[in-house]
Amino acid sequence: MKTYDIAVIPGDGIGKEVVPVSLKVLDTIAEIHGGLKFNYTEFPWSCDYYLEHGKMMPEDGIQTLSNFNGIFLGAIGNPNVVADHISLWGLLIKIRRSFEQSINIRPAKYFKGLRSPLVNPNDFDLIVVRENSEGEYSEVGGRIHKGEDEIAIQNAVFTKKGTERAMKYAFELALQRRGHVTSATKSNGIFHSMPFWDDVFNETKQKYSDVQTSSYHIDALAAFFVTRPEIFDVIVASNLFGDILTDIGGAIMGSIGIAPAANINLNGKYPSMFEPVHGSAPDIYGQGIANPIGQIWTAKMMLDHFREAELGKKLLDVVEDVTNDGFKTPDIGGKMSTIEVADEICSRLQKTY
Ligand code: NAI
Ligand code: MG
Repeated sequence: MKTYDIAVIPGDGIGKEVVPVSLKVLDTIAEIHGGLKFNYTEFPWSCDYYLEHGKMMPEDGIQTLSNFNGIFLGAIGNPNVVADHISLWGLLIKIRRSFEQSINIRPAKYFKGLRSPLVNPNDFDLIVVRENSEGEYSEVGGRIHKGEDEIAIQNAVFTKKGTERAMKYAFELALQRRGHVTSATKSNGIFHSMPFWDDVFNETKQKYSDVQTSSYHIDALAAFFVTRPEIFDVIVASNLFGDILTDIGGAIMGSIGIAPAANINLNGKYPSMFEPVHGSAPDIYGQGIANPIGQIWTAKMMLDHFREAELGKKLLDVVEDVTNDGFKTPDIGGKMSTIEVADEICSRLQKTY
């Protein structure tokens, strides 16, 4: 029996609705497989926890989490009660940084049964590998003087190690997919860091003769996400470029409620964290209508990470079929509840396999 110990943090708002049903789906997967078991330990760390304890997680929270095989997180944030920068930095970003989750990966594909805002979407299926620890999102720089003389300087930080790490991950991923990596650059406009990015890309690709490559400036690449998303397989991007591209990726699928993400620790020292792209959606929390697909697809990414990719593929196929057959929450044009959609996915999994 293969056993995975999972730390579960439902968090706030609809995180508390979509996480429990996703665990039921994971248990159904384990049941079908027969030789697989997930042990969940749930942590109540959230804005409610903050109100009671004055912090988002206990002092030894990071240490506690370090013993798990993976972290399955819903969403954090209840801006009416705790300011977003406090809740986010006190939990989510703390985990990402402490556990050196240096890559963020986000897939986007043409999803059966969903209406993409693209008029004639072709069958696209891409994944963005975003550098998650440095780049444009650095604290290096500062502001001096006041009034009309004020100056702000913001430095981007690109290390050889960090850049190479993201690129190698993209190439390895491409070998398991359709064998193509696209680099998101801007070396025509950004004088130092992007020519460096190109150099590291050209160096890395020498080691992967089976992988085809292309390189586009980020502005053109962003436009191609809208006009020709089907030409992409794996895209590797810096922190800022990846952030922007992945939002477009979510948008062309049709709803933020279905988009998944994974924060990956690459040195094997700490657990990785799996969380959907969406937040806690306070506007719909409590109505039982949150779309569970983002969280369930996130569970699929966790299965992939545990090298159970075949199970992950089965799961996503069933989710697409269920959506295509009209079992949908209101955000994607349906009338079903969170629980009804998840239950249909569970019973379909049981019937199909
Ligand atoms: P949001 O993603 O929570 O909501 C944006 C819109 O999308 C809302 O209209 C919401 O109803 C809808 N939506 C989101 N997920 C949905 C789902 N599964 N099913 C159906 N509709 C869905 O973003 P927003 O409103 O900007 O942020 C709310 C809170 O969540 C804030 O405190 C924010 O900081 C936090 N947040 C947390 C994230 C995380 O934990 N990773 C990511 C994004 C936001
Ligand atoms: Mg973003």
